[in-house]
Formats: sequence, C-alpha cells, structure tokens
Amino acid sequence: MSTRVLTGITTTGTPHLGNYVGAIRPAVAASRRDDVDAFFFMADYHALIKCDDPARVNRSRLEIAATWLACGLDPERATLYRQSDIPEIPQLTWLLTCVTAKGLLNRAHAYKAAVDKNQAAGEDVDAGVTAGLYMYPVLMAADILAFNAHTVPVGRDQVQHLEMTRDIAQRFNHIYGGDYFVLPDVSIEEQVATLPGLDGRKMSKSYDNTIPLFEGGPKRQRAAIMRIVTDSREPGEPKDPDGASLFAIYRAFADADEARVFREQLEQGMAWGEAKQVLYQRVDDELAPMRERYDALMAHPDDVEDILRAGAAKARAIATPLLETLVAAVGLGTAAAGRGKPARRSGKKGGKHARVVSFRDADGFRFRLLAANGEELALSRAYADPKAAGLDSRRLLAAGADLDVQPTDEALALRLEGDTIAETGAFADASAREAAVARLREELAAAAREA
Ligand code: TRP
Repeated sequence: MSTRVLTGITTTGTPHLGNYVGAIRPAVAASRRDDVDAFFFMADYHALIKCDDPARVNRSRLEIAATWLACGLDPERATLYRQSDIPEIPQLTWLLTCVTAKGLLNRAHAYKAAVDKNQAAGEDVDAGVTAGLYMYPVLMAADILAFNAHTVPVGRDQVQHLEMTRDIAQRFNHIYGGDYFVLPDVSIEEQVATLPGLDGRKMSKSYDNTIPLFEGGPKRQRAAIMRIVTDSREPGEPKDPDGASLFAIYRAFADADEARVFREQLEQGMAWGEAKQVLYQRVDDELAPMRERYDALMAHPDDVEDILRAGAAKARAIATPLLETLVAAVGLGTAAAGRGKPARRSGKKGGKHARVVSFRDADGFRFRLLAANGEELALSRAYADPKAAGLDSRRLLAAGADLDVQPTDEALALRLEGDTIAETGAFADASAREAAVARLREELAAAAREA
C-alpha cells in the first residue's frame, strides 16, 4: 500500500530558502517514490487569516505553484492543487469545528502568542484576534483529514497543529463510532527542518530575515547571502561553525564531505566574506536549473492554471466521496443515506455502492465512475453541457450488469447505444482487463439494485 503524504504552504509571500529546505525539497523528493501518493497544495484560505491584500495573495499562489513545479514536482504523479478549489475543505472544517474542544484551540501557539502580547500591553486579551486565527488549527486539520493523509511533512513550528489534528480526528471517530479518519503522522527532516535566517533566528517572513529562492534572480539571492549576520572575527582568526547560521545554511545544501571541508576551512580562519561566496556558489549550483524553469512558468500563468485545475479535480475525486460519508455519519445525509446504520468509511460494508463524481476541467464537464470503495473505475469523455454529462452518468449507473463494455488498445470503453462515454485506465495484461470487466458489471449491478 502506498503512503499518502500531504503538505501545504500558506500563500502570503514568496517562497524563500527556508521553505525550500524545510518543506518543498523533501516533499518533492518523497513524491518521486513509488510507495508515496503525494498531495501538495496552496493554503490560500489560511492566507486570508494573515493577509488582506488580494493582489499579494493571488500573486503568491502563482509563485508557489510555479516554485513547486520548478523544483521538480511532477503534476501527473503528485496531486497539486489550491485549497480554495476544494469546497469539501471548508465543509469538513465545520464538521470538525463541532467536535473540537474550545480549550484545545485556546492552547494553540499562534493564538496564545497573540493573547500574551495583548496581556503584556495591558490590552483586552483578544484585541485584534480574529476568529480565523483562532480556528486556524481546525482548517489545517480539514486540509489533512479530507484526504486521509498518513504523513505530513512540516516545519517544527507546525508539530502542535498535527497533534491537534490527531486529537480532532480521534474525537470525530469516537463520537460517530467509526474509523472515518486516519491519524496522521508528522515528519520533520531532522538536520535541516528549520533553517536560520539572516539574523540567526528561524528563517521566516515574519522576521523579515529571509533569503529569496527564485524571485529577484541570482542577484537578489547573492545580495541576501552577503547580509547574513556573522561575528566580528577577522580573516585568519578561527571561526566557530556551530554558532554560525551561514554554516547551518551551507549544511542544508551540502553532503557530509562538503560540510566537513567547509567546517575545517572556517576553523582554520577563512574570512566571512569568502565563506559567503562559497555558500552562494553551493546554493546556486543546486538552484540555477530550477530558476530557469521557474521563470518560464511565471511567464505562462495560464499553463499553471490548467495544471492546478486538473489537480483540484484529482483531489476532489477523493474528498467528495469521503465528505458524502461524513455528512451521512453526522446525520446530514439524504433521507436514504440517513436510514439505518451510519455509513462507514470506504471499503467497509454498509450500503455504499458505485457512484459518479462530476467535475470540470479545461476540456469541459466530466465525471468519474467510482467503485464502492472510492477507487476510480472509469473517466468520462468531456461534455460541453453539464446536463448531458449528468444524464449520461445516470444512464451509466442504471445500466447495471447489461453495460456495454468493449476493449480498446489497452483499456476498456464503456458505451451507451454504441457511443463511448467513458474509459478505464490501461491494464497490464488481458487477464487484468477481463477481471476489470467482471468488476465493472458487478459494481454497476449493485449500484442499479440499490438505486
Ligand atoms: N500551517 C502551515 C504553515 O504555515 C501551512 C498549512 C496549511 C499546512 N494547511 C496545512 C501544512 C496542512 C501541512 C498540512 O506552514
């Protein structure tokens, strides 16, 4: 079974080296593994909590998407999307809000920091605190739980949010009596999880101590590296690498041998100015080819938009059926779903059957045929008219065991009155294809019976 790995970046700024080292690079590397099913998204609803500048939020979404693609994310393999393109996320946020203890949110670091600051200033504790800031951890839990992610790679500062996510998921499972949610694990790249910034504190937009990743080109990157704070030891004097953020940043880009050599050079008195030049060169070696791809993507925002729309459709194919189950579980399902025992999660018995999920992509309106357990069985052709797509999807579901299925080159075509309306993915061999025909008929027969 593959592990679903999910992470998001808040779209309030331009990605910096700390984001690259702490989140993007490890996440992209993980997405290349065969045992990983990677989900990456732009947390643009989270952005609204911190930023009310529409132009900045919008620009940041493009920059972040282009960054991930430039850093080697393959959108065919991974699922790349914007949080705000997934209506199931705010929907789930409310379901989770209703099982979240207010006391839990009182303890969230970001909220507590605001309260402490107000207290110190003699203000009302909640002065200037929005309900958005307060609810931040619940929205983040919904991001993760809407896809039942197993692993969430984040910076150390987000660990508490992951603990809260597990807590909230557990409460929901307990209250509604089912394994609706997987409890996600956090993963931190130990060595480099938080990169120090120019002033030695954690590299962060809020400290204004960042080194840009691509924006501004090599010139701005070099200029920032030259501003890294060092102590006042003269050229020739031995330096302490462990106390220098410059060395910590270098280590995040270098292998063990390179780091050892650099350490020795510093201990032997290499001048800070020269050390900065070495650091810049090492960083640029890794980033220059990516920067070229980044610039090309930024010049074609429509291409990025197409990729994100397709990503949202892929993501919703998972979130939509899960939300159907959750909505039924809390008692808000349709009359039919509300009867009898609450529906359990996919894969378990309990009245779930094959269904269709419709969506829109660059070519028009489509639907996916999903098995009872949520797996995709087939993808429809594109329709110009959503009503026609809806009609065909209902006819398909009603066809039952009489469905007309024809082999194509490698896949299967699902037909109605001689017209192909949907196709399966490719199969490895003829016996896999035969098994798929039997499964399709079975799933559709069950759906037709229960309709
Ligand atoms: N809160 C995260 C940050 O600021 C961004 C984020 C939002 C996120 N939703 C998430 C990260 C879900 C991981 C999973 O870094």
